[in-house]
Amino acid sequence: MAPSVDVISPSAPTPTGKAALTQESTPKNYIREPLKYSGSLDAYKNFDVTPVIGREFSDVQLTDILSDDNKLRDLAITVSRRGVVFFRNQDINSDQQKVLGQKLGELTGKPATSKLHRHAVNNSKRNITVNEGKLDDEISVISSDVNRQLYGSRFSNASRHLASEGWHADITFENVPSDYAILKITDTPEDQSGGDTLWASGYEVYDRLSPAIQALADTLQAVHYQPRFNEISKEHKIDLIEGDRGAPENTGYSFKATHPLVRTNPVTGWKSLFGAAGQVESGWIEGVTKRESQIFKQYFNQLIAENHDLQVRYKWNKDDVAIWDNRSVFHTATNDYDGKRQGNRVVSLGEIPYYDPASTSRREALAAEI
Ligand code: SIN
Repeated sequence: MAPSVDVISPSAPTPTGKAALTQESTPKNYIREPLKYSGSLDAYKNFDVTPVIGREFSDVQLTDILSDDNKLRDLAITVSRRGVVFFRNQDINSDQQKVLGQKLGELTGKPATSKLHRHAVNNSKRNITVNEGKLDDEISVISSDVNRQLYGSRFSNASRHLASEGWHADITFENVPSDYAILKITDTPEDQSGGDTLWASGYEVYDRLSPAIQALADTLQAVHYQPRFNEISKEHKIDLIEGDRGAPENTGYSFKATHPLVRTNPVTGWKSLFGAAGQVESGWIEGVTKRESQIFKQYFNQLIAENHDLQVRYKWNKDDVAIWDNRSVFHTATNDYDGKRQGNRVVSLGEIPYYDPASTSRREALAAEI
């Protein structure tokens, strides 16, 4: 049956749209068994920061496990299961951080064509060096100075915006978005307070939906869209990276991609709400009316921002590292300081998002593990 005129129809395939994507690992090749943790990290002191999300390792340097593929694979599985993992006071440099970012995905089966993301705006053209003093397009330097200059009042301590407007997952407007992100904060605000980051579990957001809404959400797609980059480019006369942004499918200036509303994480096999928060603020949910799309987006934002029992908040000290799975968590920075805050972020690229009807929710999977 043809959709009603009120219903937002699926995007027409374009030369750069899904229909033209060539990634050898098509969604059907990704239907697979969840990966099994071998126990190799159990020797390191660690604790779960909340029941739902977050784990902190207290006494390991990432550089000590960088050449141990078994431990790195276990680390990737831990990050995918816990959403975000923290390491205090790390000596890892930006080149090692890039090796780690690429390995986490490679060791858990990402496509060979997926490398490290080159951010269209947040790249070496902003002339901000990583902390070893060099320019590198594969490191997004997270800089309070650049954020205030390009994104304005939302990044100012005097902002009148709702702090909760900042929830997002990284670069989901790309056809091949991120699997893992690694952020090392190298400069904390001078007064040593403020600048915390929060993460929220997309697995748990999915589990908070009723079975009826889950069943509907499982069938839908959402358009992720970031129009601000082209606006910023005009306003500030800056060039954007148009070519290969880490995967052959990530090119052009549209910064728009259609992905399943509910995404299966290939590492855990768990379903996560994916088409929500900042990445669809200018986008929409397909297959429902415009008004229904607005209502769903608003409801999903509420589930993310107002359920503090599916969030974890991290207070940074200098040189701390957080690693998260962008497929299954949302995060937001806190812009409550006036000083300088800076860090190096590596965003690695994973698979084209897919929904596997055989996948389960996190709660179902954990109940079956007992
Ligand atoms: C990010 O959005 O990836 C950066 C988070 C932060 O600055 O805390």
